[in-house]
Amino acid sequence: MLMQSALLALGATAVAALQPLEVKGQDFINPKTGNRFQIVGMAYQPGGSAGYDPKKKRDPLSDPDICMRDAALLQILGVNAIRVYNLNPDLNHDACASIFNAAGMYMLLDVNSPMPGEALTSYKVYESYYASYLNRTFAVVEAFKDYPNTLAFFSGNEVIDKEETTEFVPSYVRAVTRDLKDYIKRHVKHRPIPVGYSAADVREVLWDSFNYFTCSLQGDEDNLSMGDLFALNSYSWCGDSTFQESSFDKLVEGFEKTPVPVFFSEFGCNTPSPRIFTEIGSIYGPDMYEVFAGGVVYEYTQEANNYGIVNMTEEGPATLMSDFYSLRDQYAKLDFKKLQSLKPKASTPKPVSCSPKLITVDGFQSNFTLPVLPPGAEEIIKNGVSPKPKGKLVEISDWKVKYEVRNADGTVIKDLAVKPLADDEVNGMFFFPPSPLEHELVKFDLLTCEM
Ligand SMILES: *[C@@H]1O[C@H](CO)[C@@H](O)[C@H](O)[C@H]1NC(C)=O
Ligand SMILES: *[C@@H]1O[C@H](CO)[C@@H](O)[C@H](O)[C@H]1NC(C)=O
Ligand SMILES: *[C@@H]1O[C@H](CO)[C@@H](O)[C@H](O)[C@H]1NC(C)=O
Ligand SMILES: *[C@@H]1O[C@H](CO)[C@@H](O)[C@H](O)[C@H]1NC(C)=O
Repeated sequence: MLMQSALLALGATAVAALQPLEVKGQDFINPKTGNRFQIVGMAYQPGGSAGYDPKKKRDPLSDPDICMRDAALLQILGVNAIRVYNLNPDLNHDACASIFNAAGMYMLLDVNSPMPGEALTSYKVYESYYASYLNRTFAVVEAFKDYPNTLAFFSGNEVIDKEETTEFVPSYVRAVTRDLKDYIKRHVKHRPIPVGYSAADVREVLWDSFNYFTCSLQGDEDNLSMGDLFALNSYSWCGDSTFQESSFDKLVEGFEKTPVPVFFSEFGCNTPSPRIFTEIGSIYGPDMYEVFAGGVVYEYTQEANNYGIVNMTEEGPATLMSDFYSLRDQYAKLDFKKLQSLKPKASTPKPVSCSPKLITVDGFQSNFTLPVLPPGAEEIIKNGVSPKPKGKLVEISDWKVKYEVRNADGTVIKDLAVKPLADDEVNGMFFFPPSPLEHELVKFDLLTCEM
């Protein structure tokens, strides 16, 4: 109790900050502690893809009241990272980034969006690679590079979504990775923010994709086009499955020698429903933690596709769904402290050299000559985006959640607020003692939860 109040007092007066993380071989590491960082992540897109609306000047990190509500709830779960898919670089994200920072959560950010002209397309990919598209991706980098809790950028999401899209897409995704890393190298002097691809789990083409994006290319200065990480959206663990039955064992086998961190950028199959999230034990346990740097649950808010754990209304009030409690019960079985104190692996496999021999699937691009920059892009990379969006942490004076949030049974959660952490502190289930046995009984009333 004493320590907690001390932390609260500290948080109220200073802008505490998360330690920016780095990539070292297969791991994300905290350079200050030297420990590995395991992602306990949540896909975060309130409002679905419509939550990003250029006309309404709105994206998932633009409304501080919404962010406060969600950071407080995610803090209860023990989440330490959010993934955000659709950002408008020209909006102000300072308050939301500061709230998630104070709540001990890093941000995995897609530089693309579902809007036309704001992502590479699977079909006729070569028509979607042009200067103003790249400019947008660089603008997202500018907008988020100065937040210490920016963990990584995704250069693409599921652009390869079936076998037919493998003829030309790989070289374009690798080119965008190159361009982003080139931009970061020139314009983000204070740290190398990692960049990588988020793949669909299309097993037929997964290993070729992985090899294509993480091999080292001859003549590629600083390995600019090589992904700094490889992420996978996987839904093969459904219901009461197992490490073997879900074929997660095959993933561990296939990624064992990865030269870069590998993690789930989405997981959480929703059939059968409600979900029981037993994969959590496997992902963060001995089955997988050596090879996987954790994962991101899909997803926070309930949308038309039925993956949510929180049912929110457009106006702000929200209700927890039963999956919220199930997920929390699984997280509660983990020893978060131990999980975040793992030492980085002593040796790391070298990347393999890019070569057509790596490609096994007929029709998958085996040409590693990457597309040259589209006209006009070189100037932008050289001079920087203009005008440059800029972000910075700001002080937050009130951590209380303004909206009413209810338990699944309708009772209102009292005194919901973000508990700002001290400098360098990452969120985990430190405030809430594990209670896996109270499955049906657990309710969140922050007054009674306090020790
Ligand atoms: C580049 O991005 C900035 C920031 O979003 C924007 O203001 C500018 O108009 C863009 N320039 C081009 C050439 O697309
Ligand atoms: C960069 O590529 C070279 C081979 O061209 C390789 O030896 C080196 O390990 C790579 N560096 C990283 C950080 O992967
Ligand atoms: C979510 O809340 C709305 C009311 O705001 C309700 O109509 C809907 O049935 C709820 N959905 C779920 C899945 O609970
Ligand atoms: C490989 O790709 C590059 C760039 O797209 C292209 O110029 C070249 O002709 C391709 N080579 C082959 C053998 O297809």
